Amino acid sequence: MPAKIISGKDIASEIRRELKVEVSELHKNQIFPKLVVVLVGNHPASESYVKGKIRAAEEIGMESVLIRLEDTISEEELLTKVEELNNDKSVHGILVQLPLPKQIAEQRIIEAIASDKDVDGFHPESVGRMVTGLETFLSCTPQGIMELLKRSDVPLQGKHAVVVGRSNIVGKPVALLLLQADATVTICHSKTADLASITKQADVLIAAVGRAEMITKEHVKNGAVVIDVGVNRTENGLVGDVKFDEVSEVASAITPVPGGVGPMTITMLMANTIESAKRHAR
Ligand code: GUN
Repeated sequence: MPAKIISGKDIASEIRRELKVEVSELHKNQIFPKLVVVLVGNHPASESYVKGKIRAAEEIGMESVLIRLEDTISEEELLTKVEELNNDKSVHGILVQLPLPKQIAEQRIIEAIASDKDVDGFHPESVGRMVTGLETFLSCTPQGIMELLKRSDVPLQGKHAVVVGRSNIVGKPVALLLLQADATVTICHSKTADLASITKQADVLIAAVGRAEMITKEHVKNGAVVIDVGVNRTENGLVGDVKFDEVSEVASAITPVPGGVGPMTITMLMANTIESAKRHAR
C-alpha cells in the first residue's frame, strides 16, 4: 500500500486558522502581536523565505514589518538596529534572516537578539533552555516537525527515531525534541559508517542532510514514517533529501517536498510570535 502523504501544507493551514482566531482574541484584549523581519541585501532564496513569512503574518491578521537593509551595512550598524528592536515594546518577535553578508559575524547578531524576542530560537540561551526542557522559543523547523508528527498521530514513545543530519538548526534540536517525546534517538551524519543499516531500523526517519534524494528505499524499513526536511534546488526543480517515489512505496507515511515541512516552519514562527506577545503581556 502506498504511503499516506503527510501534508504540511494542510496541517499548516489548519494551525494558521487557529492562530488567526487567537490573534483576534488577543486584539480584543489590546494585545497586538508584532513580528519584525530584518533582511540584509537581496539573496534570492532569502527574499522568497521572507515573503512567505510576511504573507503568513498577513494571513493570520498579525502585524509584521519587513526592514530591508543594504548589504554593505556594517556589523555595528546592524547591532544598533537589533538593539533598537530589543528596546521597542511594540515588537514581540525579531528575526534576522540568514545568511548575512561576509563582513558581519552571524553569531554576534544572533546573540544580540533579546532572548525573550528570539522567535527563531537560535540564541544560545534559547538552545540551552530547550536542551534542559525549560520554557523557551523552539526553533521553527524542529518544532514544525514535532507538530506534524503530533497532528498525524505518529506514536513516538519507545519508538526508534533516526535523524540523518546534525546541523544546529535542524538535526541536533529535532533529535532532542524526539528524545523529550520518549523516542529512542540515533543521530547519523556524513561520517556515519553503513548509514542504511541504521536508518533501516527507524520507526521514524528524519532526513535533514541537504543532499538531493540521498535517502532511497534501501534506507527505509517497511512501514516507517519518513519526514523530509531537505530543500534542494536541482535541474529537475525543488527536491527533498528523500527519493520520494520509491520511498513512498515502503513507508507508511511520508512528507512531500514542497508542501511538507516548509509551511510548518513558517507557521511555527507565527506561533512563537503570538506566544511572545502573551508572555510580554503577563
Ligand atoms: N535562513 C534560512 N532559514 C532561516 C531561518 O529559519 N531563520 C533565519 N533567521 N534565517 C534563515
